[in-house]
Amino acid sequence: MSLSPDTRVAVVTGASSGIGEATARTLAAQGFHVVLGARRLDRLEEIAAEIGGTALELDVTDEDSVDAFCAVLPRVDVLVNNAGGAKGLAPVLEADLDDWRWMWETNVLGTLRMTKALLPKLIESGDGLIVTVTSVAAFTAYDNGSGYTSAKHAQAVLHRTLRGELLGKPVRLTEIAPGAVETEFSLVRFGGDEERAAKVYEGITPLVAQDIAEIVGFVASRPPHVNLDQIIVKPRDQADSGRFHRTAQS
Ligand SMILES: NC(=O)c1ccc[n+]([C@@H]2O[C@H](COP(=O)([O-])OP(=O)(O)OC[C@H]3O[C@@H](n4cnc5c(N)ncnc54)[C@H](OP(=O)(O)O)[C@@H]3O)[C@@H](O)[C@H]2O)c1
Repeated sequence: MSLSPDTRVAVVTGASSGIGEATARTLAAQGFHVVLGARRLDRLEEIAAEIGGTALELDVTDEDSVDAFCAVLPRVDVLVNNAGGAKGLAPVLEADLDDWRWMWETNVLGTLRMTKALLPKLIESGDGLIVTVTSVAAFTAYDNGSGYTSAKHAQAVLHRTLRGELLGKPVRLTEIAPGAVETEFSLVRFGGDEERAAKVYEGITPLVAQDIAEIVGFVASRPPHVNLDQIIVKPRDQADSGRFHRTAQS
């Protein structure tokens, strides 16, 4: 990747859809060279071509993939730890260990792998920023959601720990915790069941990916001394993880 030395680079994980894709577009519009990572390279390449970014295959659950991805980055100013999601909705008694492994590997260890690998470059940039997309599930537990809520709590604690460990270093840290955003999230959670996924957003006006992307853009455009620590953002129709105002559907 050959870039002029003063081009600022933003890495967005999970940039092939939803919040990550919208964030990549927003940061590119703000002048960053965006490096988009995810497993579906075809999608990344289309988006990267539109925004003048770089598409690189990335599986955050795979050490070699993370190493190969990070090795080609000339510099990193912004890291958006966004890759993640949920699998299933089951009581603890019926917990599927493979679903748990997927959620922990992707949300928690994926964030750890990417952050560890890119921290030296973020520090070297002189004004690094790490944005981690957690969830309202990082603040509360809800019935049948323990695999996801525990993973998001762990991901958030990893991120929040860095705020202290990096004091004195030129790196800012922002946690963004969204409520319901209509993306492919529920489709993935319910194994491709479109009807079940649609029910999650029935009767509410959910957030859209662009709402979160604009927040990332705002965070990334603050001056270096301003650190937005935590941002919780929900649809007006949502009071808490499982509490919604839904209008009746005809
Ligand atoms: N939607 C919501 O209601 C909501 C609410 C709160 C928090 N969040 C969080 O927001 C983040 C983005 O989710 P979204 O709503 O935008 O859902 P999404 O549309 O399903 O996007 C998830 C992204 O993560 C990527 N991904 C999944 N596994 C990966 C892996 N092993 N390696 C690299 N990339 C991987 C996916 O790309 P590939 O499949 O191509 O790899 C995809 O680009 C997630 O961390 C999610 O937990 C979502």
